[in-house]
Amino acid sequence: MRILGIETSCDETALAIVSEKNDGTFEIEKHLLASQVLVHAKFGGVVPEVAAREHVIAIFPMLDQLGISKDGKGIDVIAVTAGPGLVPALRIGVEFAKVLAWIWKKPLVGVNHLEGHIYSVWVNSITPSLCHFPNFPALCLLVSGGHTELILMKDHGAYELIGMTRDDAAGEAFDKVAKLLGFGYPGGPIISKLAETGNPDAILFPRPMIESDDLDFSFSGLKTAVKREMAEMAQKADMAKREDIAAAFQTAVVETLVTKTLRAVEKYQPKSVILSGGVSANKSLRNSMEQILQKQYPKISFHVPDLSLTGDNAIMIAIVGAHHAMKNEVVDPLTLVADPNMKLI
Ligand code: KG4
Ligand code: ZN
Repeated sequence: MRILGIETSCDETALAIVSEKNDGTFEIEKHLLASQVLVHAKFGGVVPEVAAREHVIAIFPMLDQLGISKDGKGIDVIAVTAGPGLVPALRIGVEFAKVLAWIWKKPLVGVNHLEGHIYSVWVNSITPSLCHFPNFPALCLLVSGGHTELILMKDHGAYELIGMTRDDAAGEAFDKVAKLLGFGYPGGPIISKLAETGNPDAILFPRPMIESDDLDFSFSGLKTAVKREMAEMAQKADMAKREDIAAAFQTAVVETLVTKTLRAVEKYQPKSVILSGGVSANKSLRNSMEQILQKQYPKISFHVPDLSLTGDNAIMIAIVGAHHAMKNEVVDPLTLVADPNMKLI
């Protein structure tokens, strides 16, 4: 099976062709990504209408670049992100995919973006040496700009939501704290770079909801604590280094995420742990999670996407599309609509 994957849920236009191999793994044939990060940076965040316009500009030349014949020959399935995401942005990919499916007479799958992030650890051809896949049940910590969720994956396509954020997502917290420190969007990469030279013990920020019995998160209080700390320092004319604030904030987020994940491991006894979504690019989070799991649960395998696949991409969308197509979970191109609040569970 050869799948065309399409992703336009936020600020990356992405197309990919992925093929299923005889052993059931997937090979990336081609993948393209047009990032709009620089376009949105000057607005301090993603502007949905601007994102949609940029997707339109990028997507047609990208399709040409993939070199698919005009009648779609050689493509078996089209998979497109249908939600969650920004409506104007999602619509471009969805309508584009619907037209292709209609003209080429190909099956169409509407993919949940979050499921895509989970499946980013099922890509084998980037790091063949790490080619081992999660066994079920798998516990997934999904951390992105819009979501922070603990999901128990019992099998392909079978999910149970066991924890979620009650307010800001982890990525959103990174973005907001970067803004407070006077930096642009996206904040995650900026904060993690600054944190490398900061002292994480210089300030003790709260570890939100770390003591609560449930598996939920809350990050808005942490952002407020950073704001308060900065205001106090300004009053005392004692501006701590921004590096220290970044390092102390990052440590608080990482410790909270790792602690709750360990609590979920204890409760659900999974065979593997998956860390995915944009925030899984954070080295401190990747390393802490791996080291603690290895020490406390050496029998549980740990899976994290290759750094090139932590952010939005169409490879993960194509792989999810393949899994759904195998079960004949396809949609009528006339009825598929972009759903900004699409639920995985
Ligand atoms: O998954 P993603 O690319 O888009 C969504 O689906 O939301 O995630 C984007 C988020 C942004 O909030 C960004 O600041 C964060 O991922 N991020 C990071 C890092 N790289 C990206 N957060 C922390 N550390 C990073 N290195
Ligand atoms: Zn994403």
